[in-house]
Amino acid sequence: MSTQSVAVEDLTLEDAAAELERLAKEIASNDELYHGKDQPKISDAEYDALKRRNDAIEARFPELVRDDSPSRRVGVAPSVTFAQVVHARPMLSLDNTFSQEDVRDFVASVYRFLGRLPDNSIAFTAEPKIDGLSMSIRYENGKLVTGATRGDGTTGENVTANIRTIKEIPNELPKGAPAVVEVRGEVYMAKSDFMALNAQMEAEGKQTYVNPRNTAAGSLRQLDAKVTASRKLKFFAYAWGEMSAMPADTQLGMVEVFKSWGFPVNPLMKRLNSVEDILAHYDEIGLERPDLDYDIDGVVYKVDSLELQARLGFRSRSPRWATAHKFPAEQAFTEVESIDIQVGRTGALTPVARLKPITVGGVVVTNATLHNEDYIKGIGNSGERIRDDDHDIRIGDTVIVQRAGDVIPQVLDVVMERRPADAVPYEFPKKCPVCGSHAVREKNEKTGKLDSVTRCTGGFICRAQATEHLKHFVSRNAFDIEGLGSKQVDFFFESEDPALQIRTAPDIFTLERRQNDSLTKLENIEGFGKVSVAKLYAAINERRSIALPRFIYALGIRHVGETTARLLARSYGTYEAFATAMRDAAPLSGDAWNDLNAIEGIGEIVARAIVEFYKEPRNIEVIGRLLQEVTPQEAEQPVTTGSPVAGKTVVFTGSLEKFTRDEAKARAESLGAKVAGSVSKKTDIVVAGPGAGSKLDKARELGVQTMDEDEWLALISG
Ligand code: IVH
Repeated sequence: MSTQSVAVEDLTLEDAAAELERLAKEIASNDELYHGKDQPKISDAEYDALKRRNDAIEARFPELVRDDSPSRRVGVAPSVTFAQVVHARPMLSLDNTFSQEDVRDFVASVYRFLGRLPDNSIAFTAEPKIDGLSMSIRYENGKLVTGATRGDGTTGENVTANIRTIKEIPNELPKGAPAVVEVRGEVYMAKSDFMALNAQMEAEGKQTYVNPRNTAAGSLRQLDAKVTASRKLKFFAYAWGEMSAMPADTQLGMVEVFKSWGFPVNPLMKRLNSVEDILAHYDEIGLERPDLDYDIDGVVYKVDSLELQARLGFRSRSPRWATAHKFPAEQAFTEVESIDIQVGRTGALTPVARLKPITVGGVVVTNATLHNEDYIKGIGNSGERIRDDDHDIRIGDTVIVQRAGDVIPQVLDVVMERRPADAVPYEFPKKCPVCGSHAVREKNEKTGKLDSVTRCTGGFICRAQATEHLKHFVSRNAFDIEGLGSKQVDFFFESEDPALQIRTAPDIFTLERRQNDSLTKLENIEGFGKVSVAKLYAAINERRSIALPRFIYALGIRHVGETTARLLARSYGTYEAFATAMRDAAPLSGDAWNDLNAIEGIGEIVARAIVEFYKEPRNIEVIGRLLQEVTPQEAEQPVTTGSPVAGKTVVFTGSLEKFTRDEAKARAESLGAKVAGSVSKKTDIVVAGPGAGSKLDKARELGVQTMDEDEWLALISG
């Protein structure tokens, strides 16, 4: 019997499980109808109602969240609410070429088609093939009217609101531009922005993204354009759709016009005639590839003359006048010789494949991370299959290894035909290989699912955790102690001599004193001369006074990366204030806890991790000893004399109309204000835009000063 009409509060466990199963099927089948067949059977509102019911049941019965739950399938469901756009001119794809031979054939075919002798008289453009998402941006009478994804080439998704948040894309064209203009190009995320975003995700304890392309795609398919705005997407213009008039008669000329209209265009685009020159430019771009701040996967060649392009025309899905010369995939086959387990600072057990050395994209690879137990089995972070069913990774397997940019090499797949008959499934250790403590996969309190990470429960007794902790403490962005590298840390840690031993961070700062009273002299030990010992002591002593963000980061609190450490330092000002607040926050309720959670950029997982850290007596004891040796400086506050909001805690809520949330925040911070994410007694000002809800109510309830955007602007500029 259907339970659809039963209130979620009244569902039994069995009913809830059965209904979640039904909802998963029904939503998936509607997704398929919508995306695959383009024939939705239910309205958007009905679809949303299904999703909402699914979410409500899951919220009440988190233990029932299914692997195939619609709430776990990102990227598919939200697009249902994007309207469709039929492209005025189809968005075609390109033919691929993979070798010099193919490129010669392509050029020859152009001459042949036009009935001309291959005399180098035809010019081609050569430009990087950007690994992003193609986008068509339509302007009518100079105004941006539509931004659409490629979709199936004929129909795309209307992402206009999101496209408007991309600063590099002009909202208006200069006077004199044709009445109808469709500029096409690639939306992408810069590698540096991708890495910064991932560093932030990691610091906040959130799942990191796989690569810039997927992240850019995910960022564009957000229903909330504010999310897109926060993601720093970029754009290169390289093609066009409908044009009411043509402002140039060559490919290069068109791109130059786009540039003059304010669009970013790729600086590596060149016009060349001979195949030799074209191939030389391909090599040049290939050499520059690692240094570019965006991913590219080949070079696109196009006939430069638009008249010739028109004559050459199209095959079914791609133009005859263009081709993409792809870079060879940086992949190779090799053998898994063994699987080792590394134990990290937080106890995470990371399996690493030791490989028969192999060159991938010019670099010798001997190791590849296998991430975690599930990855070895072929299961991704959201429970999805990432390889075929029986393609678990085994010792002795021949595997495909891929090295993408600077990322650590990955094992993509197993070559089943080469699997040795005696290969057995890898059994993930149940105990820490270093200290023998139990290794467990924690349960996520919210979802009731097992964490993908297996952790050693040994804590301080685990040698691996302790030494990794010390290595983190002395690392470049923490205490940055020169002369105390990984090898030295291991040496001091293993030493049984009390005058040499370093087991915890404070021991670093007592080393010199202990040495003075001792007969075993460090300078007599191999690897340490007199000079290097003196240098080491100097380096250590230099750090007896240290910036607060570095100090907090060095503590090695789970989920507290550099960004979070900076936020904490800024918010609390002194170490004393920070530590006191964290101890006060222990009940996970009350003012101290609320204040911690109110810090913009600190989520609940991070907040919990910090509070847990301060609940551990051993941490308090070690920090106590450390503070006898080291003085964290007060956090520097921005110079803001005369600023009316210096030192004030401000919360922005509702939709801001005069500036983006990021801009408002940056401006407030530059004036010395702290920007918080939620309202508490400590909030000084709440700036409320239209649609402000509970935060504004709470501010009024607490008697916190509230103002609208205009009043805020008047205040900060007055
Ligand atoms: S020209 C009719 N130029 O590659 C040809 N495409 O495989 C229009 N792409 O869908 C495309 N960089 O998303 C062209 N410099 C470039 C490109 C480029 C990336 C993408 C584009 C297209 C796909 C075709």
